[in-house]
Amino acid sequence: MYQKKSTLLSSNVDNKLLLPDFATRRNNASSAFASPLRYPGGKGRLGPWIASLIRANGLCGGCYVEPYAGGAGAAMYLLLHNHVNHIIINDADPAVYSFWQAVVNDHEALIEEIKTREPTMETRDFAKKVLSNINAHSIVETAFSAFFLNRTSWSGILNGGVIGGTAQGGKIKLDARYNRTDLIARIRVIAAERSRIRVYGLDAIKFLGSNGVELPNKTLIYLDPPYYNKGSQLYRRFYEHKDHADLARIATTLTRPTIISYDDTPEIREMYREMKSTSISLRYSTHAKRPITSEIMFYAGLTLPNPLLLPAPAP
Ligand SMILES: C[S@@+](CC[C@H](N)C(=O)[O-])C[C@H]1O[C@@H](n2cnc3c(N)ncnc32)[C@H](O)[C@@H]1O
Repeated sequence: MYQKKSTLLSSNVDNKLLLPDFATRRNNASSAFASPLRYPGGKGRLGPWIASLIRANGLCGGCYVEPYAGGAGAAMYLLLHNHVNHIIINDADPAVYSFWQAVVNDHEALIEEIKTREPTMETRDFAKKVLSNINAHSIVETAFSAFFLNRTSWSGILNGGVIGGTAQGGKIKLDARYNRTDLIARIRVIAAERSRIRVYGLDAIKFLGSNGVELPNKTLIYLDPPYYNKGSQLYRRFYEHKDHADLARIATTLTRPTIISYDDTPEIREMYREMKSTSISLRYSTHAKRPITSEIMFYAGLTLPNPLLLPAPAP
């Protein structure tokens, strides 16, 4: 999937890419909520922009690949709106992998788990036990546990605290983000497209180098690795400096059009100095003060759509 680099792209930071905030997302529910997972650093909001990137670069009807899939919000948006013919998603966290594997291969069993296990602190204890010893459990039990912890933890962080606190004494309870009917519907919509989805659970660098993963020419790869600075707080699998550097070496040699997003740090800018880049402004609705967080996107083998047709963030 990748080869030794022969040409270098000049470094160039161009205009800002502004993503819609929560108010805009609500009006565009199909883009923001296609994934049943609430993922920290999730990029579902990028879906419409990636669709315009796909159109501008003649990649419609092709393949979309996310080696760090997480909640795979953008992937699901692109698939369900038929911007691409099929998607390949990969995640090294066996909990996340199992979730997607169950959605694609055994969604009725997963739905049965969701219907029969009540959203209680006991179910959370069960889910935590499963994720602490995944090898002793089935894919469906692991998938349910990942899903349940994701939906009942603050910001969707699998190792994070429970919504409403351990005492569950306040107005907000752990099921505040656990509308089973809606979530099951989302799982069914995705499962209906399962013949167009391939799921892997590999280390992303191995996945990118794997001869078994054949990519057609019309492919867009989106690399969204764990953040450089806060990855260890958000994900069960994260990277050290050396891993980020290894990925940068591989990413700059990929032979298919590629975008890579990161938290904007001097270390990451240095690693990707040979690639073109654009700034991304993301507003995080989950934070009370709704700060704008700056991220950066590097790209290769692509022309960015101009102008970028994104709704302006609400005031
Ligand atoms: C920034 S999140 C991806 C978010 C995703 N783009 C979304 O929209 O939800 C990074 C993901 O990389 C996964 N990950 C961490 N180390 C990995 C590795 N070595 N190979 C593949 N995936 C990895 C984490 O489990 C996490 O789900």
